[in-house]
Amino acid sequence: MTATVPTAILADLLDFSGDPGLADRTSPAVRWRPAHWLLIDAAGRIEAVQPEAPGDDWLKLDRSGQLLLPGFIDSHVHSPQVDVIASWGTELLDWLATYTFPAEARHADPDFARAAAALFLDALLAHGSTAAVVFPTVHVASTEALFEAARQRGMRLITGKVLMDRHAPDGLRDDVDQARIDCRALIERWHGRGRLDYAVTPRFAATSSPAQLAMAGRLLADHPGVYMQTHVAENRAEVDWIAALFPEARSYLDVYARHGLLGERAVLAHGIWLDDADRALLRASGAQIAFCPSSNLFLGSGLFGWQQAAAQGVHVSLASDVGGGTSLSMLRTMADGYKVQAMAGNRLTAWALLHAATRGAATALRLEHEIGSLEPGLMADLCLWHRAVGPVALRRDSLARELHERLFAWVTLGDERNLAEVWVGGVRRGPAP
Ligand code: GUN
Ligand code: ZN
Repeated sequence: MTATVPTAILADLLDFSGDPGLADRTSPAVRWRPAHWLLIDAAGRIEAVQPEAPGDDWLKLDRSGQLLLPGFIDSHVHSPQVDVIASWGTELLDWLATYTFPAEARHADPDFARAAAALFLDALLAHGSTAAVVFPTVHVASTEALFEAARQRGMRLITGKVLMDRHAPDGLRDDVDQARIDCRALIERWHGRGRLDYAVTPRFAATSSPAQLAMAGRLLADHPGVYMQTHVAENRAEVDWIAALFPEARSYLDVYARHGLLGERAVLAHGIWLDDADRALLRASGAQIAFCPSSNLFLGSGLFGWQQAAAQGVHVSLASDVGGGTSLSMLRTMADGYKVQAMAGNRLTAWALLHAATRGAATALRLEHEIGSLEPGLMADLCLWHRAVGPVALRRDSLARELHERLFAWVTLGDERNLAEVWVGGVRRGPAP
């Protein structure tokens, strides 16, 4: 996929040269370059960032006053769950049975799955997320549809067929042997193809038998570079259930460790109910926790301890977890994340939140050479944002006295209505001008 013409964008550029920490408002890792040009080469990569305008052979777009950031990375989201977002009145296990499983069953139909995948990825882009780690359904058709839709859009996507061979309704269960065959074929066909990678995807320890978890571990051992995604320690009733299903394991996380599922390409959603030994295991393995504040609040799951995780050296990224989460907007996710951490007395900076959805996530995914910052050589996955939309945000923006105050107001008050333009690999992908 190539951009037709080398293009240069003039805007206020924000990205990170390193980890800004959680609470430092003046971190040197914040790279703020107001009124700079970002140059996109004909191959869709960032060629340079500079204060002066490039020569006549560049198509020049003047977006003065808008913010230009790397596209956001949503490190945990479910493509079929757009259909159940904002479903009333349940906690996790009840919510899965009442709303989610029936919605996912419809993705057995390839036509349905194709339409849903297209809608989902267009929605991600329309919210400013250009990369994601995604759960489709147990069906090969839904996985194929998602990979193909991402390929057509040139998006960086990590996904894989959901594994579930027990405790799920008819039409949503696989079995160990067929799942192994399907996963191997999908890895062969999609892993490392363009900007796509495969993730071995046991839904959670309750819906995979020990034999299926062991099979998943063998897939990972046989295919270095393949990712692993799952859920862990989200809800107290779920944690109790896992303890009853796996009495030999020290903890919920230990179930995954015993089956060879933890590694530096492992993404575990939630991780609310972990202890110090779990966090030490995450750190040692290099796995990351996808913090899903909107979902954790909506489903009443609990308050994730980012401070403890960071103190023990665990990678933390941010995720919408739609449809447990109530918005695909990573700005809204950040605002919820701030509030969840405030409940524990911790005040995250805008930098901590923005970093977790850009360079931080890219680093945790081992993709920092491709996405997450505005370094020359990286893919031009970019979003242009209005700093303020509507009378309240405009007023607040006009009163901001310094950079962090202004950007924190943008993070807290902004959403997809602030999104002006999206670029994926140097190609404009919306919103409609
Ligand atoms: N645990 C197992 N499946 C799911 C899911 O679809 N969403 C959430 N939030 N947690 C899960
Ligand atoms: Zn989830």
